[in-house]
Amino acid sequence: MKVMLVNGSSHLHGTTMAALEEMIKVFHSEEVETEVVQLGGKPIADCLQCNVCQKTGKCVIKDDGVNEFVEKAKTADGFVFATPVYFAHP
Ligand SMILES: Cc1cc2nc3c(=O)[nH]c(=O)nc-3n(C[C@H](O)[C@H](O)[C@H](O)COP(=O)(O)O)c2cc1C
Repeated sequence: MKVMLVNGSSHLHGTTMAALEEMIKVFHSEEVETEVVQLGGKPIADCLQCNVCQKTGKCVIKDDGVNEFVEKAKTADGFVFATPVYFAHP
């Protein structure tokens, strides 16, 4: 079993990562595999609602890493999404 932990902070070793590291200790003690995905620090485009993904399974915006994230996500059994609040939004 694998859990993917998504760090929405731009700080690789900030408060959000510290919280994820506590969770990773517990997952490992239960023999659950983990993978950290660093999302914060990179711009991710908003959804255009073009609906192309409903036909192709891929986002038309190709340079923000979303399609790569979706492929990686298929290998996970569970997720933790963690993010700080910066200027009132995650
Ligand atoms: C530029 C900036 C803006 C922030 N805005 C908010 C905010 O609107 N609300 C809030 O509760 N905390 C805010 N914070 C505090 C962060 O959410 C907090 O320090 C968090 O633990 C940072 O996590 P990180 O170290 O993983 O990046 C802000 C911090 C920074 C640096």
